[in-house]
Amino acid sequence: MSLSCPALPIRTSLDALVDAIAEQGIGIFPDFFAPSLIDALRDDVHALPQHRLSQAGIGRELAHHTNSRIRTDKTCWINGHSRPQQDYLALMAEIQQQMNRQLFMGLQDYECHYARYQAGDFYKKHLDAFRGRSNRRLTTVAYLNPEWQAQDGGELLVYDPQGRHPILQVLPQAGTLVCFLSERFPHEVLPARRTRLSIAGWFRVDGPLG
Ligand code: OGA
Ligand code: MN
Repeated sequence: MSLSCPALPIRTSLDALVDAIAEQGIGIFPDFFAPSLIDALRDDVHALPQHRLSQAGIGRELAHHTNSRIRTDKTCWINGHSRPQQDYLALMAEIQQQMNRQLFMGLQDYECHYARYQAGDFYKKHLDAFRGRSNRRLTTVAYLNPEWQAQDGGELLVYDPQGRHPILQVLPQAGTLVCFLSERFPHEVLPARRTRLSIAGWFRVDGPLG
C-alpha cells in the first residue's frame, strides 16, 4: 500500500487522490502543487500585514475560543482576494468536484486558512471534526516550506482512528498535499524549529447541526 505519488499531471494526481481517500481515507502527495503556485502563495503570506495573522482558535462560533496550551500558531482565512489564492481555491474546487463525482461525498463548500508556526509553535493532538456532529468531512493541508529538513521539526503526526499510535509522519515540505477524512484521523503538529507555513482547509457538507 502506497500513500504517496510523485509529481504527475493534475488529472492523474486527482485520480490518485480520490483512490487514496476511497481506499485508506488518507493520502500524502509530495509535489502535488506546481512550484510556481507554492512560491506565489508563500509571497502572498509574506505580504500580509502582521495584524491579519491572528491567534488561532479552536471550536466554532459560540464555542470558539483560543487556547495556547493546544495550539500556538497564527492564522488568516483565505478569501480569494489575490491571484494565488484564486488559483489555490480553483484547484480545491476541482478536488471537490472529483470527490463528489467519484465518491458521492456531497461536499458543498470549502474553507481554508494560512497558518504560520514560528519556532516553538505547535498544535496538540486533535480531530478536525467531532464524529457524527460536524460538517467538516475532508481535510486538506498544503505546505509552503522549501528545503524543510528533519531537524526543522514541525512534522504532522497522524494517528490511527483510536488515537493510540502514530501511523504517519509528514515533513511540511513545499508542494506536499495531505488529505484525509476529517472525522477519522486525530493528528498533531510537532513543535517547529523555524517558521512553518501551511494552508489548512476543510470541505464541508450542510448537516442538521451545520
Ligand atoms: C489544522 C492542522 C496541520 C498542519 O490546522 O487543523 O491540523 O500540518 N494543521 O499544518
Ligand atoms: Mn487539524
